[in-house]
Amino acid sequence: MKKIALMTSGGDAPGMNAAIRAVVRTALYNKLEIFGIRRGYQGMIEGDIFEMETTSVSNIIQRGGTILKTARSKEFMTVEGRKKAYAQLKKNGIEGLILIGGDGTFKGANAFFNEFSLPAVGIPGTIDNDIAGTDYTLGFDTAVNTAVEAIDKIRDTAEAHDRMFIVEVMGRDAGYIALNSGIACGAEDILVPELSTDFKAILKRISSDKRRKKLVNIIVVAEGDEFGGAEAVRKKIIEKYPEIDVRATILGHIQRGGSPSYFDRVQASRMGFAAVNAMIAGKTQVMIGLENQKIIYTPFAHAIKEHTPLNLDMMEMARILAS
Ligand code: F6P
Repeated sequence: MKKIALMTSGGDAPGMNAAIRAVVRTALYNKLEIFGIRRGYQGMIEGDIFEMETTSVSNIIQRGGTILKTARSKEFMTVEGRKKAYAQLKKNGIEGLILIGGDGTFKGANAFFNEFSLPAVGIPGTIDNDIAGTDYTLGFDTAVNTAVEAIDKIRDTAEAHDRMFIVEVMGRDAGYIALNSGIACGAEDILVPELSTDFKAILKRISSDKRRKKLVNIIVVAEGDEFGGAEAVRKKIIEKYPEIDVRATILGHIQRGGSPSYFDRVQASRMGFAAVNAMIAGKTQVMIGLENQKIIYTPFAHAIKEHTPLNLDMMEMARILAS
């Protein structure tokens, strides 16, 4: 194997650049030619492929986003699109592929590599931390820290005005950011997509808080919770308690950007290094994962099978600690 390619796909995540750097430098150290594909599968279809060298990844370890850019490609979901993508890889003489992304990326990879034969290794990069077969996905630590910093600031102003805040964090299908930022900020309630919420219990708790003159409440809601996000939750609360000053804040994409934490940089470096070495060792259609701090290899088919289940004990603990 002489020529391999690398791409980022799906939602960007802090740490992707650190992983790109590690892949490029490890490949060059092992005398492989390394090509970057811009804008994920879409760039692959369009043949947006260029050779990278050691200086292509200088001064990026600390940067958020991805220098390779990213996209969610609808065309790649079609057989026609995947045929075009494979033809481009062949045309450029690519003999192996390293993919960095979330579950959409690995679903695409699973379909692609069942149709066409090419060695491929994945690196989990998504702020959602929801991919099976790894304890950790790149970007999660940074995203949670960003959410925590923002929620702490919201608590300051909430305290000053005796207000209740409903803070919406990212996670269309996954509650990991909500659960962890909620615990770290001492949120009174945490609403996640994976579990149905007993809203009557929340209203009851608010009424008892009112009696105790506990006037500040922070409720953290994941974007994909069953009620439809922070604004919907706010409306449900003021329907019952119109006298309470309740505000909704949506943190949004600030959680995806920013300089990666030390943790994300180190894990990205480990995973990028491991991905190239796995490819050289002949491993294919596997995603690099972390289990108990050790590098493991999970087949794409397993990584896309299910989402990481939410830790229910932590949900229960959060409820008790906030009571
Ligand atoms: O998968 C990462 C993520 O940030 C989710 O938390 C969120 O639901 C989704 O991407 C938003 O995607 P987009 O930026 O394409 O709207």
